[in-house]
Amino acid sequence: MLDLLVKNARIDSGKYLVDIACQDGKIIEVAPCIESKAAESIDVQGHFVTPPFVDSHFHMDATLSMGMPRLNRSGTLLEGIKIWGELKPDLTPEGVKKRALKLCSWAIAKGNLAIRTHVDTTDPTLMAVDVLLEVRDEMKDFIDIQLVAFPQDGILRCKDGVSLLKRALDRGVDVVGGIPHFERTMEDGRKSVEILCEIAAKRGLMVDMHCDESDDPHSRHIESLTYQTQRLGLQGRVTGSHLTSMHSMDNYYVSKLLPLMAEAGMNCVCNPLVNMNLQGRHDTYPKRRGLMRVPELLAMGVNVSLGHDDVMDPWYPMGTHDMLEVAHMGAHALHMTGVDQQHTLFDAVTVNGAKTLGLSGYGLNPGDNADFVVLQAESKMEALRLHPARLFVVRRGAVISRTPSVEATVTLNGSVQRVDFR
Ligand code: FE2
Repeated sequence: MLDLLVKNARIDSGKYLVDIACQDGKIIEVAPCIESKAAESIDVQGHFVTPPFVDSHFHMDATLSMGMPRLNRSGTLLEGIKIWGELKPDLTPEGVKKRALKLCSWAIAKGNLAIRTHVDTTDPTLMAVDVLLEVRDEMKDFIDIQLVAFPQDGILRCKDGVSLLKRALDRGVDVVGGIPHFERTMEDGRKSVEILCEIAAKRGLMVDMHCDESDDPHSRHIESLTYQTQRLGLQGRVTGSHLTSMHSMDNYYVSKLLPLMAEAGMNCVCNPLVNMNLQGRHDTYPKRRGLMRVPELLAMGVNVSLGHDDVMDPWYPMGTHDMLEVAHMGAHALHMTGVDQQHTLFDAVTVNGAKTLGLSGYGLNPGDNADFVVLQAESKMEALRLHPARLFVVRRGAVISRTPSVEATVTLNGSVQRVDFR
């Protein structure tokens, strides 16, 4: 007997409906009219079924801490970093864990079943590292959490930055992070990239650096990251996150940079919600958008995925951890509202994210993990427009979250209409 049978699912942009059979945590068959008996059977009535959303870039140690100890009045990245520095000594393991677990339940309700989160390693006690390792393990049946050792204050700028980062990796953090543009000099930034990539190469780990999160067109640490990736044979395992200075770089320079990035198999993570808010803050008018050049990177064959980055923390006061909200902002801010571009943005919060994180068993084919989300929509484009209810969220063949359909009842002159915006 099957564990779960999903009837009448619409997958891809398919005109035909299929059934999805799940057993022992895997999808075992995808075909029309599967008749096998199942412990649980759901008729999803032609609604769109997608593999889970993936958040490629998040900060779970800071999430839901907005207002602690004070609000970010200027709204800038630098004031956010300052507030985080003020908050760090007062953080407690209980508080960090409670907020992280709460965020996980928000993520699951929104169908995000994989999150790559950075965790600050410049606190000498590594308290948040230990807490998020616990959260990762406690939540592993429900959500894949990948931790990045993130030296918020810089490995060279912060005392003992390198050894703290190595200690975090020794404790089980998955990925090597960095923040070269925050080091004291351009040269220190370059050096930090070299040191960190060598650590990753030696330990066989992936790399994901906060890189060039600045409006300074001369912030070009992505060039060093690409070079070190090539030099150390890390192709496909390295991610440049944020890369906002690329917006302001000279076109000639970018025409040299992008082919090098493609050649090195770089992954890029763009964070449209947060960087539309944080970048351009030193500008009068016009104000720059400060997002990496996503359409051009994609045209070069570079894998680009999207991240939420922050939810209600010192850097961003909004959010519910809805990756469709992130993609929706991307559609506007990146000028990607064309039909194919909308499909690409949906992929950037699903399959491209899975590639960035190196997830295995991701997809809707027989043999893949039985992880998927049923949306109150019929297509990727409708999902992007509506940010619809996640009717069912399935993990390893079990429904772990349900949301009722959303529908308004409009009464006009005694006639009742049901409105779901479709
Ligand atoms: Fe970030």
